[in-house]
Amino acid sequence: MGEMEARAEVDIWNYVFGYTKMGVVKCAIELGVADAIENHGSPMPLSELAAVLRCEPSRLYRIMRFLVHHQVFTEEPITQHSTGFSLTPLSRCLIKHGEKTMASFILLESSPTMLGPWHSLSARVLESGNMPPFEAANGTDIWSYTEANPGHSKLFNDAMACGARVTVPAVIEVCPEVFDGVKSLVDVGGGNGTALSLLVKAFPWIRGINFDLPHNAAVAPKIDGIENVGGDMFMSVPNADAVFLMWVLHDWDDEECIRILKKCREAIPEYKGKAIIVEAVVEQDKDDELESARLMLDMVIMAHTNKGRQRTLREWSYVLQESGFSRFNVTPIRAVQSVIEAYP
Ligand SMILES: C[S@@+](CC[C@H](N)C(=O)[O-])C[C@H]1O[C@@H](n2cnc3c(N)ncnc32)[C@H](O)[C@@H]1O
Repeated sequence: MGEMEARAEVDIWNYVFGYTKMGVVKCAIELGVADAIENHGSPMPLSELAAVLRCEPSRLYRIMRFLVHHQVFTEEPITQHSTGFSLTPLSRCLIKHGEKTMASFILLESSPTMLGPWHSLSARVLESGNMPPFEAANGTDIWSYTEANPGHSKLFNDAMACGARVTVPAVIEVCPEVFDGVKSLVDVGGGNGTALSLLVKAFPWIRGINFDLPHNAAVAPKIDGIENVGGDMFMSVPNADAVFLMWVLHDWDDEECIRILKKCREAIPEYKGKAIIVEAVVEQDKDDELESARLMLDMVIMAHTNKGRQRTLREWSYVLQESGFSRFNVTPIRAVQSVIEAYP
């Protein structure tokens, strides 16, 4: 057997059983494994972990053996004859209330609501594929679904907040100058206001407006320096010095993006206003380690939205130009997304 055939034989099992990583990590989050080990403060023996989590030890052992094999946790010696489980940088992301937690994001993506659409992806790709996968699985589009299902809406917003806590600090660290002179900032599709809360904390001179669909704005936490406003970005956007759009335009096709961006353009001053767009730019640096995450995100967006997509530089240029922005620049931030600043 040639080297490539041998590799394929190993790799194919990763596809056959690809869902196990997600399933087992979801299980670990639901049980609170990372939280228990964090609270323990030193390598935690299986017997103690099982007792704290009220788990059946031999089944928990198999879960932990799998996760240690995949380097999600480590197993370290405690004495000559005993070992305990410790956290790695990866499992720190599974702590439910951790600073950089991704727990809610994993719980969202592994929920039946978000997994269902994958069964209809092939039907969507066909020439005859008129039914978006999310609608085929859940009976309606994602935004109507979240409006009608407060539990799913909270999970969705919590997941987006996880993403914001990873991305926004990178924006603040790499290009703080983006916010120079910005006295008021409207976060269009700002979810529960997490991104804006981080920005207002870093740049206290900014007055923030967190703008989202009415059902989201109504439950967004009240945060000093931020006003929650409900509305529809296709109708109008509250006025501010700058608009901030993170992971919003990728949910829509070009024609819809242009309509949103035109409303954003109307909301900012003609000369000193700008749009700050935090989105992936695909195919810009194919060797970048995060390119694979960008391409996965493109597939997720195909499964979960009606017509959304990740865009290349040329595609961004098209939608920005068509919406009346005269120039833009892109700053990579060592994240899945880059910062695109667009000027009227
Ligand atoms: C993918 S989420 C991004 C959330 C947030 N910007 C972030 O990155 O954490 C897209 C957001 O757009 C909001 N949205 C969808 N349609 C909208 C509309 N017509 N007007 C205002 N917001 C809308 C959704 O409610 C959701 O909060």
